[in-house]
Amino acid sequence: MGPLSAPLCTQRITWKGLLLTASLLNFWNPPTTAQVMIEAQPPKISEGKDVLLLVHNLPQNLAGYMWYKGQMMDLYHYIISYIADSQTIIPGPAYSGRETVYSNASLLIQKVTREDAGSYNLHIIKRGDETTGVTGHFTVTLYSKLPKPYITINNLNPRENTDVLTFTCEPKSENYTYMWWLNGQSLPVSPSVKRPIENRILILPSVTRNETGPYQCEIRDQYGGILSDPVTVNVLYGPDLPRIYPAFTYYHKGENLSLSCIADSNPPAEYSWTINGKFHLSGQKLSIPQITTKHSGLYACSVRNSATGKESSKSVTVKVPEWTLP
Ligand SMILES: *[C@@H]1O[C@H](CO)[C@@H](O)[C@H](O)[C@H]1NC(C)=O
Ligand SMILES: *[C@@H]1O[C@H](CO)[C@@H](O)[C@H](O)[C@H]1NC(C)=O
Ligand SMILES: *[C@@H]1O[C@H](CO)[C@@H](O)[C@H](O)[C@H]1NC(C)=O
Ligand SMILES: *[C@@H]1O[C@H](CO)[C@@H](O)[C@H](O)[C@H]1NC(C)=O
Repeated sequence: MGPLSAPLCTQRITWKGLLLTASLLNFWNPPTTAQVMIEAQPPKISEGKDVLLLVHNLPQNLAGYMWYKGQMMDLYHYIISYIADSQTIIPGPAYSGRETVYSNASLLIQKVTREDAGSYNLHIIKRGDETTGVTGHFTVTLYSKLPKPYITINNLNPRENTDVLTFTCEPKSENYTYMWWLNGQSLPVSPSVKRPIENRILILPSVTRNETGPYQCEIRDQYGGILSDPVTVNVLYGPDLPRIYPAFTYYHKGENLSLSCIADSNPPAEYSWTINGKFHLSGQKLSIPQITTKHSGLYACSVRNSATGKESSKSVTVKVPEWTLP
């Protein structure tokens, strides 16, 4: 037989008594020596799980006790009570059907919902003419049950200083706040970054190579936040002005000439060399063994990025004198 199967008439009779008690309780001041403690087990719970509100240091020889939802101890917030003499359990208007009260005053709440979060008050009714009592409360902390957000983006391979990037964090809700992350770092608010519409849409009007990387959006509510899967933006750029190594001008006859060209570019640049304006070879390195005076001239490295459509070049003068260098 369940604790709530008391005959309806018994409940009705006891109700009157409870109403009277409740109005008396409104004038209580909790004693400063209150030692009754309420401990939530577990202290943090996720939605759908059970929580037990353990009551410690319960005084002996009690008439009963009443549980209330929230700080207000009126009939509307009254969940359940236990009358010691009759060992009767009486649910109230705030009873959801998921609460169980034990004779030791502990309260079990099953399948916790978001609406259960908040404080709970326990009134202990001592025997005797005068009514005394103790209150305690605790807060249910619920883990967030937010949906996992995701990013939509207009271009995964934007060109530097050319394309506008627009990120949108889904789903849309006025209940969420939105945050943006790049490389695991909260995206700094810079004048170049526009964030209209409550931060849900992120616009990079002039994307640079520094904006390459994994982006995540985060939605938050009062219980917590959740991150989207990363979306990696690969900014296409360059080629920048190439550099040629070494940058010497004079070489000995018979020396091996070896020049390297490098230019920042994404994707990597295509390299080619010309000597005195005539195509010599493709590739980043140019090597000519045992050079002679005939190899003097203008050596130019050309770089090209077909993804950005840009190109650039740089040249060095190579001189191989007839005389022997000091
Ligand atoms: C009260 O009773 C419940 C159910 O029997 C039990 O789980 C809990 O530990 C008890 N509380 C205390 C403080 O002993
Ligand atoms: C926002 O929160 C309110 C109250 O909590 C709820 O009624 C409403 O459905 C929520 N809106 C969305 C779009 O989730
Ligand atoms: C990228 O960041 C570096 C270091 O913060 C800075 O020196 C450089 O100017 C930035 N480049 C662009 C294209 O914004
Ligand atoms: C020049 O390169 C050749 C092979 O191409 C090598 O045998 C020779 O040792 C090199 N000479 C110098 C001075 O590095």
